[in-house]
Amino acid sequence: MSDQENLADRDNQIQIVEVGPRDGLQNEPRQIATADKVKLVDMLSDCGFTRIEVTSFVSPRWVPQMADGAQVLAQIARKPGVIYTALTPNLIGLQGAQEAGLREVAIFGAASQTFSQKNINCTIEESLQRFVPLIKTALEKGVAVRAYISCVTDCPYEGAVDPQAVARLAEKLFELGCYQIVMGETIGAGTPETILAMLDAVKQHVPVQALAGHYHDTNGRALDNIAASVEAGLRCFDAAVGGLGGCPYAPGAKGNVASEAVAAFAHHRGFDTGLDETKLAAAARFAKSLREETQA
Ligand code: HMG
Ligand code: MG
Repeated sequence: MSDQENLADRDNQIQIVEVGPRDGLQNEPRQIATADKVKLVDMLSDCGFTRIEVTSFVSPRWVPQMADGAQVLAQIARKPGVIYTALTPNLIGLQGAQEAGLREVAIFGAASQTFSQKNINCTIEESLQRFVPLIKTALEKGVAVRAYISCVTDCPYEGAVDPQAVARLAEKLFELGCYQIVMGETIGAGTPETILAMLDAVKQHVPVQALAGHYHDTNGRALDNIAASVEAGLRCFDAAVGGLGGCPYAPGAKGNVASEAVAAFAHHRGFDTGLDETKLAAAARFAKSLREETQA
């Protein structure tokens, strides 16, 4: 099944992309054991997720927590039908992902110049110049590319972000061949009103079927923002098991919305997610135990 087909049956399905092993564990204060990361990913594969973001191929000096990404990917039990993905900021990262046998990667830019500089050490324009050869190479090799835009409503350094800036970047990334554009609400400051204003602008340039939401839950508004996004036509959301998450370059940003909360929300509203809530609850307990160990 292709990525597009995967998202095609939109009426009664919500796809939850599990990003906890990456977004969650990148932000833990100390290194989690590789074996525990492998165990977490294997538990998640068993929950019914069709897409799991396992790790990042980024500079280990920038994010040491993800330095064992290749080992994690070598040790997990890859379940047929599950697409395993990783963040790749540049061609070095793409090479690592390809060597690990990934068929999908995610690039990550930002709608805010300061955040772009702090997170990936370049301007928005420079990031696009970096992404062009990455996307081209990936697509030539049959690797699908997902694109994050961080700070879609608010930036930790610049405050409110112009929806038109998000829309312009989303349009460029879509035109370059990214099959899905992920709206990163990086610091959990967004509200249904600001999320909808941003989505209204983006939808003028990118089909809603190609959009996903990635909402952090710092202020407890992530489910409200998902509900508003569902009304706006989105059917794909990132979430992190146990509500893990954050970004080392977004001060104060707490976890992603918890996968188990999004699954319960979707099921309650009559959407199918393909997820087993009992298995997901067990994975969430394990994920939280990893966090508690680091905080002990
Ligand atoms: P730089 O220092 O400008 O890179 O960092 P460079 O090209 O000048 O290279 C410097 C050194 O890094 C060189 O090594 C490169 O080989 C190495 P040296 O010669 O000094 O020994 N290097 C790499 N090593 C491994 N893998 C690579 C790689 N690239 C270069 N891919 C860079 C630029 C983008 C690499 C750096 O800024 C970086 O790694 N940033 C990643 C930051 C990050 O991972 N942030 C968290 C993820 S984003 C997020 O959480 C937001 C999201 O969840 C959405 C949302 O919530 O909004 C996605
Ligand atoms: Mg994030």
